[in-house]
Formats: sequence, structure tokens, C-alpha cells
Amino acid sequence: MKSSARLLIFLVFLVFIFSSQTRFDLNKRKTRIDAKVDSLLSLMTLEEKIGQMNQYNGFWDVTGPVPQSGASEKKYEHLKKGWVGSMLNVRGAEEVRKVQEIAVKESRLGIPLLIGFDVIHGYKTLSPIPLAEAASWDLEAIKRSAENAALEASAAGINWTFAPMVDISRDARWGRVMEGAGEDPFLGAQIARARVQGFQGNDLSEKHTIAACAKHLAGYGFAEGGRDYNTVDIGNSTLYNIVFPPFKAAQEAGVRTFMNAFNELNGVPATGSEWLQRDILKKKWGFTGFIVSDWGSIAEMINHGRASNGKEAAAIALQAGSDMDMESYLYVEHLTTLVKEGKVEASLIDDAARRILKVKYELGLFEDPYRYCDKKREDSIIGNDQIREMVLDMAKKSIVLLKNDKNLLPLKKQGLHIGVIGALANDKDSPLGSWRIAAEDSSAISVLEALKDYRASNTITYAKGADLYTNKTSFTNQVKINQNDKSGFSEALKVAKSSDVVIMVLGEVGYQSGEARSRTRLGLPGVQQQLLEAVFQVNSNIILILNNGRPLAITWADKHIPSIVEAWQLGSQSGNAIAEVLYGDYNPSGKLPVSFPRSVGQVPVYYNYKNTGRPSEPAPDVVFWSHYIDEENTPLYPFGYGLSYTEFTYENLQLQVKKSKIEDPLIEASVKVVNTGEYDGKEVVQLYIRDRHASITRPVKELKGFELVSLKKGESQTISFQLDSNTLGFYDNNYEFVVEPGIFDLFIGGSSDTTLATSFEITQ
Ligand code: NOJ
Repeated sequence: MKSSARLLIFLVFLVFIFSSQTRFDLNKRKTRIDAKVDSLLSLMTLEEKIGQMNQYNGFWDVTGPVPQSGASEKKYEHLKKGWVGSMLNVRGAEEVRKVQEIAVKESRLGIPLLIGFDVIHGYKTLSPIPLAEAASWDLEAIKRSAENAALEASAAGINWTFAPMVDISRDARWGRVMEGAGEDPFLGAQIARARVQGFQGNDLSEKHTIAACAKHLAGYGFAEGGRDYNTVDIGNSTLYNIVFPPFKAAQEAGVRTFMNAFNELNGVPATGSEWLQRDILKKKWGFTGFIVSDWGSIAEMINHGRASNGKEAAAIALQAGSDMDMESYLYVEHLTTLVKEGKVEASLIDDAARRILKVKYELGLFEDPYRYCDKKREDSIIGNDQIREMVLDMAKKSIVLLKNDKNLLPLKKQGLHIGVIGALANDKDSPLGSWRIAAEDSSAISVLEALKDYRASNTITYAKGADLYTNKTSFTNQVKINQNDKSGFSEALKVAKSSDVVIMVLGEVGYQSGEARSRTRLGLPGVQQQLLEAVFQVNSNIILILNNGRPLAITWADKHIPSIVEAWQLGSQSGNAIAEVLYGDYNPSGKLPVSFPRSVGQVPVYYNYKNTGRPSEPAPDVVFWSHYIDEENTPLYPFGYGLSYTEFTYENLQLQVKKSKIEDPLIEASVKVVNTGEYDGKEVVQLYIRDRHASITRPVKELKGFELVSLKKGESQTISFQLDSNTLGFYDNNYEFVVEPGIFDLFIGGSSDTTLATSFEITQ
């Protein structure tokens, strides 16, 4: 045997030994933790166990250690008694240390607290909103972004994030569409996995990792009418094949917690659903972590009409498998009595407390409750260069070029008079989105700032045009949009007239999307559409930059404006990322993770729809087919769509075999992707299938693979994909996964509307 071959075998052997050793160590640690939890449980009173299941919002006044009277005094008393298992919204190494000290030093058993926080897209230094990150289709970058967020949050004392939100949504009206990964279960599942791995790393007890929480189990993104918190009534096929996959992926990635949901699902509030929480998540999927309720959602079961009072709500939620009560106060108030009256089983309390304590052990909190409370570490990590670089990188990757007809982009670096118009161009707050409790207000880099500072020598002239909003916005108040004041229009037109090119930054205020921010109109809010049309009259060389937390229906703009850039809410480095794209120092490669409607009336509009029984392409003038008489069926921009400054062509789509046996199907497809344009660039190569006939009807297209490839100008690469039973099958209405024989179509391209196709057969 050659010495190189011997070396290779030796290396493989070493890797094997190392990985079995790591597995062995992890298993040993697990067994040790189980034993510790059991012995701790044996020391605990019923009240103390229930206390672990109780989570309070922070009451700590950061300016002093004395809690205010009333509810916060009660919380303080409970903390000292060991009746609080977790707190949320306490942040900062020193503040967390103070509450942790009460739990550890003043309670009988000194059990440390879980410190939860909504680290949704960063802690203080913000990454793009999750929907924007999903547009990168770059799983490594998304994972790194979650790692980065965990690093900053953990330095501020936090050990548990309420993220990722893995709710699929097809409804742009729903404000929380910004918080998820879009409309597709396959992409959503991959992103869920990447985010969980990013937050939790390989070892939860490391200082820079935190426990993740997949939320909201389940169906929250399907709220009727897109109105937040509203009723959800969906069929099995959608639930099993569209809603569940990202949750299942999070569980498989080892997520330590789940959050249930505010909504009812098919008549049962999710918080009180034993089927969702015990039967599916804990039994069928084998989840060993714990479930936290959503904020007050146990008490909300009274309003839903499921429980008649708080005591009953507590019993229902516990029975259903909801392990921790976020801010309903009902577990701590009623569970002891309920056990004593024999109305709930003590073993359910043991099970919930065990799950919670286990996560605390896994985080290493028993070894050192203050492991996340190091002020020096906090000072050196929060907002440091590495974190800023990281969020800038993610922001560039999240941008989607929607249109560039006259090649206005990329911009030349000299000799241009650039007019910049729109309140959002100079807005340092909106790019932060709405989930940014720890970030400083108005701390983002605006487009205007970034363009002025850019390494280019064009002249920049700014005009606001009109205010977008008229009150001080915040997480808790309703934003007031300017609907009338056009007094700034004339100044904007003057600027536009004297410019070679006009950059207009239009869209939504940061606080127009997010929780409780549903909209019935999906156009540009306020007077922005009028401003756009007025400017277009005097100078049509417009580059429209969209800032928004949801798909917008911008049909007029698509028809008239030559260049459109989807820049979402990109976080702290927003302006810098946009400027790099505008100047071509970064070639955009984002693809939409969600379809953009032409009008609200089309919603829900999504790429993986099912055919009706009616013809999909009828003869002209035929009326009896499934359509609107005043609008097309197709979206304005489909899922998976996005342009680049360069161009990619797809050729030579091939299958290795055209038939495969159902027992162990394997289909291999390949395609040659060529960069035929003038720039180096990246392309997301997407593979879709269609199962033509099945026992449960299948969508016209389903994403089943994608790869992000970098190609230099003129370069080409052959990309291969494999399909197996996991990707070829689906869930039937009994939640059984099945692969069925028959003909499948296979499509590959740079968007879900690709027509490059072939077909294969799965045989008996
Ligand atoms: C309610 C939201 O629905 C949930 O996602 C969030 O984590 C909690 N509030 C805590 O802030």
C-alpha cells in the first residue's frame, strides 16, 4: 500500500475515534445531567417545582435594586421563595447578575434562572430582519448571523432566545411575516436548522452559545385575514406538509425549547393542545426539552372560550404539555391547589420541572450561574468590529435586485449628480425593524449617510419629499402615517430635475411590521406613491430602494421604474450594505423567500399552490376557470426570484436515470450554470419537483434542493442534486410519510417560475 493511502486510512481512523469519543462524552454528560436533575427534584417541594414552571417579565429597575411595589414586589417575593424558573427582558451583565443573585443566594435551593430575551435578528447590533436573511438563501451566513447574535446576547447576560420563529406564512398582510423565513417549508426547514445550530452551537455550556426556541407551535402564520392572533383553521395536508416541517427540522437540530402560540388551531387554542404538544412534539418527534407558553397565552384561553377561569386554564395547559407559563401567573397561582385537589397529576409537574432543570444544567448554569454576567466581556463584545462586519456582510447578502431594465445600476463612482429622495433615505431608525428592544434608537446607518461617506466622488443632494410618519414610534404604540402633507414635494421635484439619477428610498416604517402590525393595504404607505409618480414625471431615471418588513404590492413601480432594489429592514449597517450594492462593489444575489402579490386581493399568493379542476391556461374569452376578472393569477415577483448585475444561463439539464424503484428511490439531476454576463456573481440554483398524480394532490411545484454558487464572469459549473425518499414523499392525512409511484416533473433554474424541465418515474 502506498504511504499516502496509509496516511489517509490513519486520518479517517483518527476522525472516527475522535467523533466516537465526542459522542461518548456527550452521552456521559447527558446521563450525568439526568442523574443530577433527578436528585435535585427529590429535594424540591411541590411549590418549588411549580416555581420552575413560572416565568416573569423583568421588574428590575436598572437604576436601583429595589423593586417597585405591587406586581413587581410579588415577583420579588416569589423569586426569593424559589418560585420563579425564568425571567424575560432582564438584560445587561450586571442587571442579570442581580436577579440571578436573588435566585441563587436567597432561595432555599439556589436554582439559577433562565434569562430569556427576544434575540430575533441580533441583540444590540442588528442583522437584517429574519425574512431578509432568508432572502440570502445562504445557510452558512444565516448560521453565522445567529452565532453572532448569541455571542452578543450571551455577553449581556442572556442565556435563552425566543428565536427562531419558524412559522411559514403566505400572507403579506400578517405583520410577523418579517420574523420568519417566508412561504416555503423546504427553505424554512433548512433555515430553522441553521438558526438553531447558530444559536446553540455544538455545546450549550459554552459561554457564547444560548438556548434557542422554535416558535410558535403551530399555525400562527395562517391567521385568518392576516390579522395577528386571529383564528387558524387549516386542513391536515397544509399542516403536515407546509406548517410542520420547519418545526420538525428545529427539533432534529436539537432545539432545546419550543414556544406555543396565541392562535387557536382548528378549534383548539395551541397552548391547550395536547395533540400538538404531547402527541406530536414530545411523543412522535421525541422532543426532550421544554415548551414555554407565549406571553399570557394560558390566560388567553379564557377569551378564546376554551377555559372558564384561570384555574381551569392552568389545568388545561399543563395537561396539554405546556411546561412553562410566560406571564399568565396562573401556574404559580393554581397548580398547587390543582394537584392537592387531585385535578392534575403531580407526575405532570415533575415532567415539566425536569425538562426545565435539564436545560439549565445543559447551559452550565449550575456550575456557574453567573457565566453570562461578566461586565468586561460584555464591554468587549457588544458592538465590536467583528460583530459589525458580520451584520454588514449579512445585510449585503440579503438584498434582492428586482429590476434593472436600463442598467442604471451599478452606479458610476464619479461624475454623477445623484438626487436622494424619501424620508426613509434619512431614517436611522426604521432599518432596525420592530424587534430591537436592546438596540439604541436611530442607531442604523442610513442610505443618505452611507452614500455621502462612500468612496465615490458624485454629488449627493437630498430632499425628504414628505414625512412618512408623524409621531414618535415605539414597540408599544401605533405608528401614525402621514396621509396628507405634501409640502415637501416641490423641493423633491427640484432636486429630481437637476439630477442625473434619482435614488428614492420608500416603503414601511420599522414599526409597521412585526407583532400586531397587520395591514390591509400593501402599497407604499402614506403619500409615497404620489411622491414616486410626481418625481417620475420630471425624471424617470429612478432607482427605487424598498425598505419593508413584508412583500409589497408595487405594480405601478414595477411597470414604470427602471431599477428596483429590495432592501427590507437591514439592521444596523443598512445604509452601508445598500451603498455597496448600488456602486457594484457587491453584486446582489438574494432571491425572494416569499411571493410578492400584484394586489391585496390575490393574497394568499404562493408558488406551491395546487391546480384546480379547471384548465390552467384556458382559451381566450373563456370565463369558467379559476381566475380573477380584474387581475392575473401570477404574483408580481415569484418566490425564488432575484436578479444580479451579471446573467446566468442554464443548460444541459440531465438525469442519471429516468426511473427508480420505490423501495429506495434515488434520482440524480445535474445542470450546467454559466455566467454569461459582465460581472462575477452568485446564483441560487433551485430545484423543484412536481408529483403529477398522488393520493393527496401535490403542489404544481415544490422546492427540493438549492445551491448557492459563485461564478466568475465567463465561468461555468455543473451542479448536481440528489432526490431520495425524503424529498420525493409527502405526509398523507394520517400524518404518515409516503412515497408513491408515478411520474414526477423536475425543474431547475434561478426562480420558481423556471420552465427548464425534465421528468422521471418512480416505479413499483
Ligand atoms: C409575544 C410573542 O408572540 C413572542 O414571539 C415573544 O417571544 C414573546 N411575546 C416575548 O416577548
